[in-house]
Amino acid sequence: MAKRNAKNSWTPLQIITHLGALFPLVWLAWDFWQGQTALLINPFQEATFRTGKAAIILLMLSLACTPVNTLFGFKQVLPLRKPLGNYAFMYAAIHFLIFIVDNGLVSNSLNLWAVYEATFEKRYALVGFAAFVILLALALTSNQWSMRTLRKNWKRLHRFVYTAGVLAVIHFIWLVKSDIREPLIYGVLLTIMLVLRIPAVRKWVVNTRQNLTRGRQAAASSS
Ligand code: HEM
Repeated sequence: MAKRNAKNSWTPLQIITHLGALFPLVWLAWDFWQGQTALLINPFQEATFRTGKAAIILLMLSLACTPVNTLFGFKQVLPLRKPLGNYAFMYAAIHFLIFIVDNGLVSNSLNLWAVYEATFEKRYALVGFAAFVILLALALTSNQWSMRTLRKNWKRLHRFVYTAGVLAVIHFIWLVKSDIREPLIYGVLLTIMLVLRIPAVRKWVVNTRQNLTRGRQAAASSS
C-alpha cells in the first residue's frame, strides 16, 4: 500500500502507521471473539460505531499529513497520505457493509430496496454515503496507472478527499443526538487543515518557519 524507502524496506514510521491502522480491526475481531458485552448486546451498532470512528480518524490523519509538513517541515509524513486514505476507505467500506447487512438482511436474503430506503431516508446516512462514494473513487484511482492516465485530473480528483472529510464530519454531527462536542472537534481540526492549505497562508507559514530555523542556526553558530 505504501511506498517504501530507497533501501526498499519499511521505515519505522510506516510500520507504526500500518500497525496502528490495522489495530481497530484486530481489536474488533478480538472483542468479538471474546464475546465483549457491547458486541453481544448490539453487535451491529457497536461494530458500526467502531468502524465509523476508525474511518474518520484515519481520514483526518491522512488529511493532516500535508499541514504537518507545512507547519514543521516533517516530509516523512507525506508518503503516509495514501495508505492512511486507503485504510480510511477500508473501514468506511466495512462500516457500510455492516449497515447493508443490518438494514438489508431480511429472512436470510438481501433486500437491496430496504438498504436503498435506509440510506436515503436519513440525511446523516445520505451524506455518509456521499463521503463513501468519494473515498471509493479515490481508492480505485490511487495507483500508478490511474495517475498516468488521468494526469492533471488525478490531482483534481484527489482534492475531493477534503470534500469527503467535510461530509464525514457532517455525517457525524447529524447522527449524534445531543452531545456534538466530539464531531465538532473533528470539524475544527478539519477547518484548521483547510486553512493551512490556502496558498497564501501556506507560504506565510513556510517562510516564518524557515526564518525561525535560520535565526536559530545563526544564534547557535555565533555562540
Ligand atoms: C455508506 C455510507 C455510510 C452509512 C450508511 C453510514 C451509517 C452510519 C450509521 C447507521 C451510524 C450509527 C448511527 C447510530 O446508530 O446512531 C454511523 C456512525 C458513524 N459513522 Fe457512518 N455511515 C456511512 C459512511 C461513513 C463514512 C464514510 C465515515 C467516515 C469517514 C463515517 C463515520 C461515522 C462515524 C464517526 C460514526 C459515529 C461513531 C460513534 O458514534 O462512535 N460513516 N454511520
